[in-house]
Amino acid sequence: MEVVTVKVCVLVGSSRKNGLSSNICAVLQDQFNAKGFSSNFVHLADKHIEYCDADNHCQFAPCKVADDMPSILADMQEADGIIYMPVMHAFGTNSKFQAFLERVGYGYLRPLDRPLADKIAAIIVVGRRYGHTAVYSQIMLNIMLNKMIMAGSGFPPLFFGMLGGAADDVEALEAVGQTVERMHDVHMRFCNPDKAKTRFQTQLTL
Ligand SMILES: Cc1cc2nc3c(=O)[nH]c(=O)nc-3n(C[C@H](O)[C@H](O)[C@H](O)COP(=O)(O)O)c2cc1C
Repeated sequence: MEVVTVKVCVLVGSSRKNGLSSNICAVLQDQFNAKGFSSNFVHLADKHIEYCDADNHCQFAPCKVADDMPSILADMQEADGIIYMPVMHAFGTNSKFQAFLERVGYGYLRPLDRPLADKIAAIIVVGRRYGHTAVYSQIMLNIMLNKMIMAGSGFPPLFFGMLGGAADDVEALEAVGQTVERMHDVHMRFCNPDKAKTRFQTQLTL
């Protein structure tokens, strides 16, 4: 059987390397290996990301503020699919991830005329217990703004740290598995339509 490699960039928002997000990265890595995906985990904690200065000079040309944003954008552009993995802080996304969204969206994706269009996107939200779906919706709006394709796969992968580690959140693990499967399926539909599953067609003819 021919294996179609999907290149996935995972944007990891956590401020630390030993938290729940790192557990989830290990789960993702196993699933990517099983599917033959190639992966690039971009840990925002390792990156220098300035705040948006809102000078609006980036309306028609990329932002001139010097930091790691160009290399992060290059990683995103290189990928077929992007998984956004913010963590919950103060009922919203953590500030590093928020700074990243503002800088990449306003400073680069807008003047570059939405270069991520048609890439496959998914979201995993990590937190202790409160506010995950609000952040999920926030990220989804940014994905739609950038004309990407959301790999809808059933219930959203929301990890609740109050349950323990990633392995203890069985429902979130199931949702991650379905997300990875669906990213593969959507990639096949767009890039290799002849090899895509025919599930929807079959349902219509039943
Ligand atoms: C400043 C701060 C604010 C937080 N606010 C929330 C919150 O609003 N909702 C929530 O579910 N968890 C909240 N948490 C808990 C973290 O989301 C949780 O510890 C999560 O596991 C962090 O991801 P990490 O373990 O990958 O670093 C907060 C943690 C910190 C440090």
